[in-house]
Amino acid sequence: MRRIKPGLRASEFAAYATQPAKMLHLLARAPVLLALVAATLASASASPSKIKERTVYPRGGTSSSRAPADHAVTLRIALPQPSFDVLEQHLYEVSDPAHARYGAHLSLEEVEALSKPHTESVQAVDAWLASHGVPESACIRSSSNDWVRINVTVAKAEEMLDAKYYIWKHTTDGDTLVRTLSYSLPEDLHAHIDFIQPTTMFARFKGHRTTFRWHGVQESASALAPSNGTILADAASGIRVDASCNTTVTVDCLKQLYNAVGYKSSATNGNAIGITGYLEQNANIADLQQFYKDQVPAAINSSFKVVLLNGGENNQSLAAAGAEANLDTQFAYGLTFPTPGTFWSTGGSPPFKADPITTTNTNEPYADWLDFILNQEKIPQTISTSYGDDEQTVPESYAKHVCANFAKLGARGVTLTFSSGDNGVGDGNPNPKSQTCFTNDGRNTTAFIPLFPASCPYVTAVGGTIHVPEVAVFFSGGGFSNYFLRPIYQELAVQRYLDTLPKGTYKGLFNPNGRAIPDVAAQGDNFRIFVGGRAGLIGGTSASSPAFAAIVSLLNDARASRHLPSLGFLNPLLYTVGLAGLKDITVGNNPGCGTPGFNATKGWDPVTGLGTPNFGKLKEIVL
Ligand SMILES: *[C@@H]1O[C@H](CO)[C@@H](O)[C@H](O)[C@H]1NC(C)=O
Ligand SMILES: *[C@@H]1O[C@H](CO)[C@@H](O)[C@H](O)[C@H]1NC(C)=O
Ligand SMILES: *[C@@H]1O[C@H](CO)[C@@H](O)[C@H](O)[C@H]1NC(C)=O
Ligand SMILES: *[C@@H]1O[C@H](CO)[C@@H](O)[C@H](O)[C@H]1NC(C)=O
Ligand SMILES: *[C@@H]1O[C@H](CO)[C@@H](O)[C@H](O)[C@H]1NC(C)=O
Ligand SMILES: *[C@@H]1O[C@H](CO)[C@@H](O)[C@H](O)[C@H]1NC(C)=O
Ligand SMILES: *[C@@H]1O[C@H](CO)[C@@H](O)[C@H](O)[C@H]1NC(C)=O
Repeated sequence: MRRIKPGLRASEFAAYATQPAKMLHLLARAPVLLALVAATLASASASPSKIKERTVYPRGGTSSSRAPADHAVTLRIALPQPSFDVLEQHLYEVSDPAHARYGAHLSLEEVEALSKPHTESVQAVDAWLASHGVPESACIRSSSNDWVRINVTVAKAEEMLDAKYYIWKHTTDGDTLVRTLSYSLPEDLHAHIDFIQPTTMFARFKGHRTTFRWHGVQESASALAPSNGTILADAASGIRVDASCNTTVTVDCLKQLYNAVGYKSSATNGNAIGITGYLEQNANIADLQQFYKDQVPAAINSSFKVVLLNGGENNQSLAAAGAEANLDTQFAYGLTFPTPGTFWSTGGSPPFKADPITTTNTNEPYADWLDFILNQEKIPQTISTSYGDDEQTVPESYAKHVCANFAKLGARGVTLTFSSGDNGVGDGNPNPKSQTCFTNDGRNTTAFIPLFPASCPYVTAVGGTIHVPEVAVFFSGGGFSNYFLRPIYQELAVQRYLDTLPKGTYKGLFNPNGRAIPDVAAQGDNFRIFVGGRAGLIGGTSASSPAFAAIVSLLNDARASRHLPSLGFLNPLLYTVGLAGLKDITVGNNPGCGTPGFNATKGWDPVTGLGTPNFGKLKEIVL
């Protein structure tokens, strides 16, 4: 029997849905680990050490030398969250438009209560840290205690974890990481710790902006995109767009295409939109002004709030402007103006420096951002992220813990959109002879490579389209998770798709029981943006995620103006009543891993999901 949603079977789900709302204090389902704990406390250091996690470094990396003993690392220790099942049930209830509790989002305090690890786990970890001479005062904890961070030297980490840290260099782009191939913990501690990183994590969380699709400089919009009348975008709805939208995508194009022309959002109804930034990507405000002058004159002189986290920066030198950050902010804020915008710039992945003082290479930016955002009383209702990495480079334990924290944001009423990736089903390479989709589990077999966090079932994964009428763009990331089982909300839609595949199609290349991505799609190429003072065209599902998020934000605006709660975790709505507000994309495919990839088809497909948004129709559905 296949579980169709982590922690909850279909029958349980049905039974649960018919019960009266459960009270928050009923945290009963959590297993209690008391016996284990007593043993652990008595013998934190005496219990034999056992490998907790190991990995094989993915293709393309070489280790040069052992990391210097005095090099500093910030270890992040994740404790299990035994009440996650309960939190997940709340998430599904408050996100299900058919449920009586729809929109009854949880408060910061309620989510924290459901995030707490067992006291016994906290004590066991503290005892272990103390046994290694790490005092309480050296620990920084997340507000619900599910993370502990400590600064140690490589020598200390190696002693505590029975590990050997090396400096790893990625052969293609020269990125360096300080990592170990395995680490161990006293056996009795295994039940009290989900994972410790950075150890075995080789993910690099790239932006999904694809540089080679930068189409060069376009100094003048009017010179290159003259108005040559309109073209039909969709026969069924009769939607027409400017002819230029087929080659150059602007804010107006997206408003026309997604039926949002003339909608006026509010600056003051409490609705807000957020964009996450990582990897020293700077969102340039002078560029934003040029973009507004070009495409959203009413927004000239308006800006967004910048929040710097964990050593993040937002260098305003034009030379330092980041194409990814500029793309995300210009389109998200341009489409939703005057909705207040926030840009979080999270640091944490500088290149390795052989410098004992600088703590480098944590490279776990989502965790750092989550630490911060989950501790905020007020969070923008819609947040877009255009970063991710191959799921297999992210340890499963890490992916699950971070994904659970995304679920908490959903329970708080936040919609999270993530780009689905720019390499089709894996590496974007249709040639079987030169494809590079190999597993890093030691077996080195060929398999499709889904991306995380898009593969997390509690976020909305956004694929890409191109042209008018819209077809799937060839690079649109899609496929099936190897870590997360298919969630119940997409069971019918995905099974219907799988049933249409000829028997044996891509057998062994993908996990037919996995969480399927993307959920939806939006335009993903030829976006006209400004970077470093110049205009150009750019593509990637990096463009699709903020575009889709902006439409969701406008829906949240419409709800806020009627004093309705935000949409929150969107997928249960999208796969049910929301379907009528999406345009199905049925042409195109997403090659990769030496195959033509999947096809866009009638209904859900692993290229464009359920399709692209129609704001007008969605607004009627959600009001
Ligand atoms: C570790 O060191 C960094 C840099 O000095 C500091 O910002 C951070 O707060 C420290 N973290 C802990 C857990 O002490
Ligand atoms: C617009 O029409 C003019 C005249 O027919 C043509 O030269 C030009 O290429 C067209 N531009 C676009 C973007 O289609
Ligand atoms: C838009 O461009 C595509 C690709 O060049 C083309 O196939 C399509 O016919 C164009 N759409 C219209 C309405 O001309
Ligand atoms: C923007 O601000 C500048 C400088 O304060 C001012 O000169 C200009 O008129 C403003 N433009 C708009 C459209 O408000
Ligand atoms: C900002 O970026 C510029 C251009 O890359 C660089 O010269 C400057 O040192 C940076 N400033 C800071 C404070 O990092
Ligand atoms: C995996 O197999 C491919 C194709 O046979 C080969 O090119 C590659 O070097 C192998 N990688 C590893 C890590 O063994
Ligand atoms: C995609 O469509 C083509 C043309 O109809 C067909 O030959 C191919 O088998 C389909 N591929 C998949 C994975 O469904």
